[in-house]
Amino acid sequence: MIKQIVSDYTIIGSGLAGLYAAYCASKYGSVSLLTKHSLQTSSTFWAQGGIASAIGEEDSPEIHFEDTVRAGKGLCNEDAVRILVNEGPERIRELISEGLSFDREGNNYELGMEGGHTRRRILHLGGNETGKFIVEFLINKIKNSDRIKIFENFLVHKLIIKDNECCGCSAYKWNEGENYFFTSNIVIIASGGAAGIYNESTNPHSSTGDGVTLAYNSGIEIANMEFIQFHPTAFHSKKGNAFLISEAIRGEGAYLINNYGKRFMKDQHESAELAPRDIVSKGIFDVMEKEKTDHVFLSLSHLNKAKIKSRFKNIYDTMLKYNIDITTDLIPVSPAAHYMIGGINTDLNGETILPGVYACGEVAYSGVHGANRLASNSLLECLVFSYRSVEDSKKYLDKKNIIDYSQEKYLVNDEVESIYLNLKNSIQRLMNNNVGIVRSESILNKALELISNVDKSWEYESNEYYSNRLRSLKTVALLVINGAIARKETRGSQIRIDFPDESKVAYNIHQSLKTGIEKKYL
Ligand code: SIN
Repeated sequence: MIKQIVSDYTIIGSGLAGLYAAYCASKYGSVSLLTKHSLQTSSTFWAQGGIASAIGEEDSPEIHFEDTVRAGKGLCNEDAVRILVNEGPERIRELISEGLSFDREGNNYELGMEGGHTRRRILHLGGNETGKFIVEFLINKIKNSDRIKIFENFLVHKLIIKDNECCGCSAYKWNEGENYFFTSNIVIIASGGAAGIYNESTNPHSSTGDGVTLAYNSGIEIANMEFIQFHPTAFHSKKGNAFLISEAIRGEGAYLINNYGKRFMKDQHESAELAPRDIVSKGIFDVMEKEKTDHVFLSLSHLNKAKIKSRFKNIYDTMLKYNIDITTDLIPVSPAAHYMIGGINTDLNGETILPGVYACGEVAYSGVHGANRLASNSLLECLVFSYRSVEDSKKYLDKKNIIDYSQEKYLVNDEVESIYLNLKNSIQRLMNNNVGIVRSESILNKALELISNVDKSWEYESNEYYSNRLRSLKTVALLVINGAIARKETRGSQIRIDFPDESKVAYNIHQSLKTGIEKKYL
């Protein structure tokens, strides 16, 4: 039997974009909030740095705009950036007035510094556990709302569209093998990014870009997927655990040093360790190539030990488990896949080309990040564009629900789980090895060949859970690889050794089922 749930809004994802959208939408109607795992499994929950916002006395939205656009290397949608920097402080003040408190230093907020910013403007919470604290704050609000119903362990596998109108989506409660249809005129996809398709990633294992596949399979355009941002400093352990060492640590003065104990970023960029991420990641990559090693080091021993211990408590505690005292010992670090800059193409209100279907947060391409995201702009983007999506989608509230639910039923074949996990691992390794920081046509073609063969022995079953998971991983990986091949230039997070210069005219790369791969010149 397929269970039917009717609500005004169906919201997919429980990171900041999904939680905040649910919170905002509950003012106007009933909300079904779906998440693939638990409410706490999201990249937001793991987010350390904080939220960038021009609230300091020496700052302004205009300066924040300039920093964002500079980092985005000619590809930011400037209208979207203006919305971000101007509406962001408003959203933050609202949350503060509703009880969220950020870390303070005396009477003022303690503002952090991160790469690419020219002002201290990163609000943070619990030292560097910003994401966790915000998620907990919103979960608490949501659980107290009788208009929001939470559905954990639900994988959405299909948007239901009839005559170009959104009717809702089909979902599978994978841990209990139950099929559901969520009826609503408004679906907001806020399911997060795809850095988890890489072997070395700072994201939870669940960040596999499912929302991108969902939209792509419905004919929605996907933009600029090649821009996968690598965080320069993930903890490099021999076992491959890539724990994030926040950029805010470099903001407090930590040095990057090579295997001979020498600082190397000073020679690469005037902002040294605080250059934008693409530059720092490439700087580290070059040192690792030259020194034939798989990591460099972060050094904090010259900084105030008490301050480091309290401001970066969870990094301090986590590293102690690896016998590293970050106040005295060097931390081995290397870049790891961190953030999906591209995604579901939306307008300035978060709406896709399908009326009633919205996307916000990391899954969306709103244009604010261009070719390279400025650190800590992403949580701000979640707030600003979730809010706008909810406000804009009110126009669909009075429409009668179209009940046209699919009779397709899902099932799970537990016998194939371990084979699926092995294949997932093969995809992650091939992405790491062939679609990393530095790319070329021949390596990317190799990636295409490998990905085409990865599932050769898999017997796809229609409407089977693991078959669907594998197809989705493959779709997302192909979108990244094909985008990287089509972008014949070096710009921001895409570095091509065979096309080392920026193209004279900037373009976006759109991919859709209808039109294939298209370059859209700005
Ligand atoms: C960090 O703390 O370095 C991550 C912040 C971000 O990715 O925006």
